[in-house]
Amino acid sequence: MPIQVILDCDPGTDDALAVLLALASPELNVLAVTVAGGNVGLTHTLRNARALVSLTGRDTPVYAGADRPLLGAFVSETGVHGQDGIGGVVLPEGAPPAPGLAADVIRRILRDSVEPVTLIGIGPATNLALALTTEPALAERVAQIVLMSGAWAEGNVTPAAEFNAWSDPEALAVLLACGRPVVFATLELTAQALVTQAVIAGWRGLGAGRCLQAACDIQATVPASRRLGGAGAPLHDPCAVAWLIQPELFTARPCSARVDLGPGPGRGRTLIDRWNRTGDKLNAVVLETLDAPGFFDLIGGRLALLP
Ligand code: BDR
Ligand code: CA
Repeated sequence: MPIQVILDCDPGTDDALAVLLALASPELNVLAVTVAGGNVGLTHTLRNARALVSLTGRDTPVYAGADRPLLGAFVSETGVHGQDGIGGVVLPEGAPPAPGLAADVIRRILRDSVEPVTLIGIGPATNLALALTTEPALAERVAQIVLMSGAWAEGNVTPAAEFNAWSDPEALAVLLACGRPVVFATLELTAQALVTQAVIAGWRGLGAGRCLQAACDIQATVPASRRLGGAGAPLHDPCAVAWLIQPELFTARPCSARVDLGPGPGRGRTLIDRWNRTGDKLNAVVLETLDAPGFFDLIGGRLALLP
């Protein structure tokens, strides 16, 4: 039986590959793609999500969601993702967005699904939090929440905070308090998923399909990470999806996690207690190591199955 999932995203170069990986993988049944503003504004992230889903030939519904965090101002990340979110790569216009708003749709799916649903969050957590905070009892219908979010050490948008956690820390706090396990693909994990030109060249050779080639075109626009010594570009978001498809590529550790909601320089920092020093309840799982060659093979192999 495939895992029933909702994929909440903000495409986003790395989100783009995560969307394609999820739709290419029979282990997952993507019930909806929900979209927030994040890497770039909602107008762009929604257009990108629609274009990516349509490129696969699938009719998975794509829903518009929040264009700003629960509190505070919206801030984009065009340095990595370009002004349009996908590095200027031109994709054919996708199908129109499905009617309805992301948080309402997430609640409806949770209410109606026969099986528990896994929430995958690879952008600011606003849509997921809005759904769970307006009808908290629906958390019982959530199998788990798998996030690309946070770091146990240094951030990437501030010295303290990772971009998705920092973009909407109150939303992340809602998820951490909802009573369902939250799985973190943190910056320490995604630093092991460094895409180089050689990785992209390897993928390109796997087929001529439009999805695989678009993924390579998009990934080729991402600058190597200064934070990681220029060794490559961390492919953050597909890690969260790959964990559900091939967990044997990872090692994981139960932990407790909270997020700093203060207004100061630590805002958005995730406090991930891998050694239970706080004695807090274990409300999360942190993914610690990644078999990077296996991960890249998974992505290339799956995207080569798409049109
Ligand atoms: C996360 O932030 C975004 O820039 C990426 O899409 C990813 O979800 C990495 O910090
Ligand atoms: Ca993202």
